[in-house]
Amino acid sequence: MSRTTLIDLLYLVAATTFLLALKGLGSPKRARLGNVVAAVGMAIAVGATFFHQGADGQGLAHVNLIVLGMVIGTIVAVPAARFVQMTAMPQLVAIFNGVGGGAAALVSITEFIHIKNDRPATYVTLEVLLGVLIGTVSFSGSAIAYAKLQELMTTRPVTYPGQQILNGIFGVVALGLIVAILVNGNLALLWILLAIAFILGIAFVLPIGGADVPVLISLLNSFTGLAVAASGFTIGSNVLIVAGTLVGASGILLTRMMSKAMGRSLGNVLFSAFGSVVTASGDGTRDDGRTVRSGTPDDIGVLLAYASKVVIIPGYGLAVAQAQHTVRELADELEKKGIEVFYAIHPVAGRMPGHMNVLLAEANIPYEKLKEMDEANTEMPTADVALVVGANDTVNPAAKADPGSPIYGMPIINADQAGTVVFLKRSMRPGFAGIENELLYDPKTILLFGDAKDTLTKLVASVANS
Ligand code: TAP
Repeated sequence: MSRTTLIDLLYLVAATTFLLALKGLGSPKRARLGNVVAAVGMAIAVGATFFHQGADGQGLAHVNLIVLGMVIGTIVAVPAARFVQMTAMPQLVAIFNGVGGGAAALVSITEFIHIKNDRPATYVTLEVLLGVLIGTVSFSGSAIAYAKLQELMTTRPVTYPGQQILNGIFGVVALGLIVAILVNGNLALLWILLAIAFILGIAFVLPIGGADVPVLISLLNSFTGLAVAASGFTIGSNVLIVAGTLVGASGILLTRMMSKAMGRSLGNVLFSAFGSVVTASGDGTRDDGRTVRSGTPDDIGVLLAYASKVVIIPGYGLAVAQAQHTVRELADELEKKGIEVFYAIHPVAGRMPGHMNVLLAEANIPYEKLKEMDEANTEMPTADVALVVGANDTVNPAAKADPGSPIYGMPIINADQAGTVVFLKRSMRPGFAGIENELLYDPKTILLFGDAKDTLTKLVASVANS
């Protein structure tokens, strides 16, 4: 078997593992295995690359430099991934994604410098230029996304008059430069394209509010996939083409699913500067004089202990409080008393896809106890208590009842249909959408104020003593 055939075969094996990995990642049960399969496939692809022939007909050129790069990458990435806090996961994904886009852009730039004097077919140059444009937008956009999520800069949408028009002009100039380079192959224009793409990435991300950034990261992830696929075409690497296309396609699907689960169009997420309004008063009273009803851990402990079915609805606050282990302790305590407990999972609860699944898996909560929104909603009318732990928008009935609400149309978990609703939160501050939640003022709702970990700990004790 020739060396090229062997490499192609190994790449085929790697590409197949990527597909199997994606399938595995589709369910929480098999997600871990899916990740391992993808890692093995990636190791095979990287290993096969070492069999490539250099231009001199000998082995792969610059092996020492490649190995050095891999060692540095491993030293930086392994601890970063191992020790990252669950709540900081979106920024880690942003930075990893950004460097992926940057790497794809660098490959394309190097290739352009190599091929520019040979005047290759137009489509080859086009692939290279698209790799530079998309990879650089993804790189600088991800860097701003990282800065927003890490709160190195304001997390609010940064807007100014004429912003969309200016962004449109940057886009048109970038496309114009691509046409000009295709016509005359000028290297100087490539550097200008690089600079414009860099600015475009920043300008594109600035008006997006911090909490919409996870959706944006998924889109940038898709861009990186496309840039990688473009580099794959450029350097004739089948595995890069397959891997890049998979990332491109799954990134765009995830972006669509996330926007849909938020009841918003992708255009609204990207261009509406959402997340800037905060309207709730914060003191528990309303203009019409209605107030909320708050309870003590003992009151609520008794209520829970005498229920027969309790639905726990986790949200972003659970992640902030890192209360996943304590919520499990409470569920265990309730189950000891013969009470049925399950968790209702909203697809966009928290701040990243699968946030609640990952968090609850960390506390070894069995997957069977996690019910997706539709299934959970069918059981809600038979639940005695809906225990809302740090969730807000995902249970806000305004999404169903108020056509003027920014979240109108977003599917929600129908906590309002349970016998009693208990909210664990620290204050009357709203959730991500910045809007009031009528359910907090409902006569059947009781609030237990405090950090979720703290209040859950008190509830565990109170249930045990009831
Ligand atoms: P949110 O509506 O954001 O509400 C979170 C609640 O947690 C707040 O009411 C907050 O109230 C409370 N909280 C915060 N820290 C807490 C703590 N330490 N202890 C107790 N409570 C705490 O959360 P949600 O219901 O999960 O909804 C998610 C929102 O994020 C949706 O609007 C969704 O569209 C958006 N979003 C989601 C994603 C993905 S992919 N998941 C991506 C982007 C945006 P206090 O401050 O009063 O405590």
